[in-house]
Amino acid sequence: MKLFITALILMMGVSPESPAGNPQNDKVYILPAPSLKGTMSVEEALQQRRSRRQFLDRELSMEQLSQILWSAYGITVKRDDYPVLRGGLRTAPSAGALYPLEIYVMVGNVKGIEPGLYKYNSEDHSIRCTISEDLRKEASSAAYNQKMIKDAPAVLFYSAAYERCSKKYGERGKERYVCMDLGHSAENVYLQAEALHLGTCAVGAFSDEALKKLFQLPADEEPIYMMPIGYCK
Ligand SMILES: Cc1cc2nc3c(=O)[nH]c(=O)nc-3n(C[C@H](O)[C@H](O)[C@H](O)COP(=O)(O)O)c2cc1C
Repeated sequence: MKLFITALILMMGVSPESPAGNPQNDKVYILPAPSLKGTMSVEEALQQRRSRRQFLDRELSMEQLSQILWSAYGITVKRDDYPVLRGGLRTAPSAGALYPLEIYVMVGNVKGIEPGLYKYNSEDHSIRCTISEDLRKEASSAAYNQKMIKDAPAVLFYSAAYERCSKKYGERGKERYVCMDLGHSAENVYLQAEALHLGTCAVGAFSDEALKKLFQLPADEEPIYMMPIGYCK
């Protein structure tokens, strides 16, 4: 109920009240439901897919961001009977359905969403603010000054909770499965971006330490990818 009220307040453009000592973590946006119909076939998206690195300073809509996050890790079959699934089966396959990835989005220029770092929650298709500051410039520096990170209006950031996988699959889970899971999710994002006439690029070159610090990551999460999203120049 509290989540719903906060989301409603945000939709109305009013700052939500935050509990004392926790000024940022209460900002939640429930994203619009994803559309299941597009204007481009999977085959066309595959044919056109490219890593795109030059972005316009043009605002994204909440619908576009919603669609991108859903393609990455959205729930497609609800399974409340299996709490381990944390909501259900998703758009991307995952070894043992353990879903070891966490997805964040750095919002810079998305209509109706205050700039900041947000964590995606697949279960209710929402984003929750973890840092209310536009971190794109600092993240670009941490990625050896790759300009696309500061230019794109939104940047996905993946972290990996390796233990979710290694608990069941040991070293194999850690060394292989997590990155395979990441590849599946990231390819979804590439294709979805293409189908929305947007662009993205997988970015694996960055300082892990710098990003961990910048994003104040929990101790059990490791940085693994960034994917800027935007209109291409
Ligand atoms: C694991 C991985 C890491 C990557 N890291 C970067 C990166 O840090 N910066 C960058 O510009 N491109 C990066 N790329 C994108 C590749 O350069 C790109 O996929 C490759 O040149 C092929 O081009 P295409 O994706 O347009 O087919 C990465 C791709 C992968 C799969």
